[in-house]
Amino acid sequence: MTASTPMKLASHAAPAPPSFGVEAVRADFPILDQKIHGHPLAFLDNAASSQRPRAVIDEIARFDSNDYANIHRGVHELSQRATKAYEDARDKVQRFINARSRKEIILVRGTTEAINLVASSFGRPALHLGDEVVLTTMEHHSNIVPWQMVCRERGAVLRVVEINDRGELDLDHLEKLLGPRTKLLTLVHVSNALGTINPAKEIVAMAHARGIPVLLDGAQAVPHMRIDVQDLDCDFYAFSSHKMFGPTGVGVLYGKEKLLDTMPPYQGGGDMISVVTFEKTFYNALPAKFEAGTPNITGVVGLGAAIDYLEQLDWDGAMAHEYELLRYGTERLAEIPEVTMVGTAAAKASVMSFLIEGIHPHDVGTILDRHGVAVRAGHHCAQPVMQRFAIPATTRASLAFYNNRDDVDALVRAVRDTIEVFK
Ligand code: ALA
Repeated sequence: MTASTPMKLASHAAPAPPSFGVEAVRADFPILDQKIHGHPLAFLDNAASSQRPRAVIDEIARFDSNDYANIHRGVHELSQRATKAYEDARDKVQRFINARSRKEIILVRGTTEAINLVASSFGRPALHLGDEVVLTTMEHHSNIVPWQMVCRERGAVLRVVEINDRGELDLDHLEKLLGPRTKLLTLVHVSNALGTINPAKEIVAMAHARGIPVLLDGAQAVPHMRIDVQDLDCDFYAFSSHKMFGPTGVGVLYGKEKLLDTMPPYQGGGDMISVVTFEKTFYNALPAKFEAGTPNITGVVGLGAAIDYLEQLDWDGAMAHEYELLRYGTERLAEIPEVTMVGTAAAKASVMSFLIEGIHPHDVGTILDRHGVAVRAGHHCAQPVMQRFAIPATTRASLAFYNNRDDVDALVRAVRDTIEVFK
């Protein structure tokens, strides 16, 4: 499966091939093997943050115990080892998303910082009075607020693409909003609140036909599908390590070199310069131009270890297994009359967002936790999605490839028990 060919839930994904051994994979994630309130943990909050395999945990400990020092600065052995590990991780990211050049991989704190970087260094110079940034109703706050801030400053406006009752983008509306004043289209690749997989490649082509660059928020896509930024042809792609089995505090901004080259730095400081005098500063070349200050060195090494882990995995088997679980969970929840699914797009990944009639999602989340089932309850940092469906919140179960049918059965049992408690 590629980014341009998401599996359709409606077509009922093929069952996981026998080669994918979920139980062996679960053994790689030590945190999963525990009881919560006397029940086996069913970790279904992967869209918030996924768990780390032992390979990542061990590599972080090994690096910190043996090789840690500041990077790009020291002539000493440890600094050189740390610099190599950090830059090797950049190369791994480049290969992982098939970027043309390592200069296009900017290592940041997370998706949020990546988007703020684009808003600041691309948006601020590009936007003038009356210009427009097009985004969608299903954006995470981190892909709304930075644009609101820069639009307010520059006198530009946001235009918002509508979604239908299934939580799918209205592509006709999107096309209508792309006009001569549009300076950027920015949208989520996979919705964190609904699970919708947007047809990113088609949308990028639609925008490019009008000369409009596109930023994709890939935070929820990277853990669930292969990403090929050259195939997508997007101009920017943002994602976070902690949602793809790596540590927190690290993320990636991919940007096309020709755009990054023309953009001013995001922050000033060490590492992003070549010469500094009080009269004038010369900026460093890409990618250092956008990496001011000492970065999260250990975190970046951990991200590299997460990529190593994913690359040795039977990825196609893992994805088929995950989609099959999504289909199974969706069907089991649909058997419960009090449950309404929010987000029923034909193309979906990972997420089952739902309501139980008469019970607030926060109460559902709390009772599910008493059954050992970890989910997220709330607006999922996507309040406009909640406003679109006229609801305050949902309960969201989100899958990763290490989940199994026992996890989904525990969820369904706990949902039924919750309904009993409130009867
Ligand atoms: N953005 C994360 C989520 O969807 C935190 O839960």
